[in-house]
Amino acid sequence: MKNLSSLNKHVDVALAERSYRIEIGPEASQILAAMLQSLKAKGRRVTVIADAGLLSAQADFFSQHGVDSGSVISVPQGEASKSIEQFARLLSELAQRALGRDSVLLAAGGGVCGDLAGFVAASYLRGIDFYQIPTTLLAMVDSSVGGKTGINLPEGKNLVGAFWQPKGVFILPALLETLPAREFAAGVAEVIKYGMLCDIALFEKLEQLPHLAADDERWCEIIARCCELKATIVSADERETAGSGGRALLNLGHTFAHAIEQVSGYGTYLHGEAVAIGLSLATRMAIKNDNLDPAIQARVDSLLQRYHLPIQLSAPLDTDSLISAMCKDKKNLAGKLRLISMQSLGQAYVTDQISEPLIRILWQDAGAA
Ligand SMILES: NC(=O)c1ccc[n+]([C@@H]2O[C@H](COP(=O)([O-])OP(=O)(O)OC[C@H]3O[C@@H](n4cnc5c(N)ncnc54)[C@H](O)[C@@H]3O)[C@@H](O)[C@H]2O)c1
Repeated sequence: MKNLSSLNKHVDVALAERSYRIEIGPEASQILAAMLQSLKAKGRRVTVIADAGLLSAQADFFSQHGVDSGSVISVPQGEASKSIEQFARLLSELAQRALGRDSVLLAAGGGVCGDLAGFVAASYLRGIDFYQIPTTLLAMVDSSVGGKTGINLPEGKNLVGAFWQPKGVFILPALLETLPAREFAAGVAEVIKYGMLCDIALFEKLEQLPHLAADDERWCEIIARCCELKATIVSADERETAGSGGRALLNLGHTFAHAIEQVSGYGTYLHGEAVAIGLSLATRMAIKNDNLDPAIQARVDSLLQRYHLPIQLSAPLDTDSLISAMCKDKKNLAGKLRLISMQSLGQAYVTDQISEPLIRILWQDAGAA
């Protein structure tokens, strides 16, 4: 019989008194159950804020972990739930349940539910403990780690929020088996991003492996590596204040992606799909601006396409609108566009030296009008 224990990993996020552990693998399920048991024994009330899509796909998950259905609050699936209305509804719900300062929230779902529930935890009674149970690949490798929580305003994405670190993260890759294929692929874009920005060995490993299905055990190790990389970056720059590098590097391809999402209308592309186009564009930019080896373009594009991710716009978008969306990016300083480029594959850096004519050419290469 196969030894499953080799699939279990953990990663520590070192943030002084806010440090926590990420448990990854089949055993994370037992560790989670034991933790819930111990909270109960201490008289601490646990409330789960869970994504509705997860609840229907994994109906027995919480009862199997000793959580009764009355302690689970469902959040409608989709980005629209990262709203002031859902935030207010959840806060009222917690207050009506008379949850005290020693109560604990579990955020179970993708990045939408994690960001929303995390912000509720940061705000309720000026902050209560919370744990993340990420259930999409994107949330496992990215959004559940690092303490960025928040919601959207009609004026823009993630405009309100708080840095509020979880007390722990439980990653059960088996939950990916029910994730829709398109959502799974979108998460792979963020995995590829880590390789490109700071880990050439991860990139090469993904290149050497065939397409891995969501139920492939090799994801445990890959997810753990991504968490390790994010934990290192977050530990060095918790609040994204580093003058160069730091958390901003995690935005490789993302300024292009956010522009695509905004101009095409949220929902046309999944975030990870827009990131995939952004990664291909960032590579093109680095070849033209930083003398990156031109052969890297085919390597990046073919890895993205192996996971059925787009590298070009599916329909033309207006170049001026895309550039104007990029100019509103939160990373920009003193009115100058700041982008993430690569000196070499696996080595990203922040630059404000990309000219507008070059950006225009890049967009047109990607199929913009
Ligand atoms: N906080 C951060 O650092 C950070 C980083 C990256 C992204 N984000 C945020 O993450 C969000 C996107 O997250 P996402 O891509 O996880 O999308 P998501 O949360 O919308 O989840 C995607 C879909 O998968 C479904 N789902 C989730 N788990 C499932 C499972 N195991 N089985 C079946 N269905 C399941 C959900 O119902 C949903 O329809 C965005 O709002 C983005 O801003 C935050």
